[in-house]
Amino acid sequence: MEVLSTKENILILIKEIKAQNKSVGFVPTMGALHNGHLSLVRKALNENDEVIVSIFVNPTQFNKKEDLEKYPRDLECDINLLKTLSNNNIIIYTPSINDIYGANIKALKFDFDGLENEMEGKFRPGHFDGVGTVVKRLFEIVKPDSAYFGEKDFQQLQIIKKLVEKFQLSVKVIGCEIYREENGLALSSRNQHLKSEQKKAAPTIFKILKEAKEKFRKQSAKKITDWVIKEFAKQKLLKLEYFIIADVKTLKENKIKSSKKSYRAFIAVYADTVRLIDNIALN
Ligand code: PAF
Repeated sequence: MEVLSTKENILILIKEIKAQNKSVGFVPTMGALHNGHLSLVRKALNENDEVIVSIFVNPTQFNKKEDLEKYPRDLECDINLLKTLSNNNIIIYTPSINDIYGANIKALKFDFDGLENEMEGKFRPGHFDGVGTVVKRLFEIVKPDSAYFGEKDFQQLQIIKKLVEKFQLSVKVIGCEIYREENGLALSSRNQHLKSEQKKAAPTIFKILKEAKEKFRKQSAKKITDWVIKEFAKQKLLKLEYFIIADVKTLKENKIKSSKKSYRAFIAVYADTVRLIDNIALN
């Protein structure tokens, strides 16, 4: 398995791949890979000749310095996990800061038509400028035919689709279903920070999302939101940051239900200092 750490080397390899008319699937990650990432890589392998997985802990998308510092990093382990999928068709790219930012480690400012101001955008100021900056730069270097993103970060997925539309990039953005533990907990690199009691409590998040989906058939968004707030008030180890039922296109909170629109429920919860997010399609 090739592991390339410079822009120069990845550019040479991509040129060779393109010269052979092979398709390139791309899975950008920050490492600390888990089965959720592997499901994206598997899908990319099924749909492309070659797959590039980038591993880069992007400093500008962290709005808290301690989050960036404690972000898990284990390249050796990531490589071994990817080897279980394919030894021949996966290329790992671990860019340097310089590849992405040059001398100036600063995020660009984006206008994603307001998508960046909802939910995660409200609670993590600047986060989506950081994501937009790194993904745009990676797309420019890798020039993939298709790029794969998990629906766990549904807002990020919609923002990347918007980025591609606004900058007219020729990459197909593919959203992939959330990968869950058997108990329903959505896989996340942050789960490894959960203590055993918190791990037991965390599946409640998906349980509540599923009940919210059930209720959505008959009840208003307001009534469901009030119910979710009450349910979390009973939880000792989980603290609700937000629960929102939103239109998937605008990501704006839904007030009046329309049968023509698609909705999702979005949630962010703290287990002590560990922040977990999840979402579910409602109709
Ligand atoms: O979802 C992630 O892991 C990151 O936000 C991404 C898309 C790799 C950008 O750093």
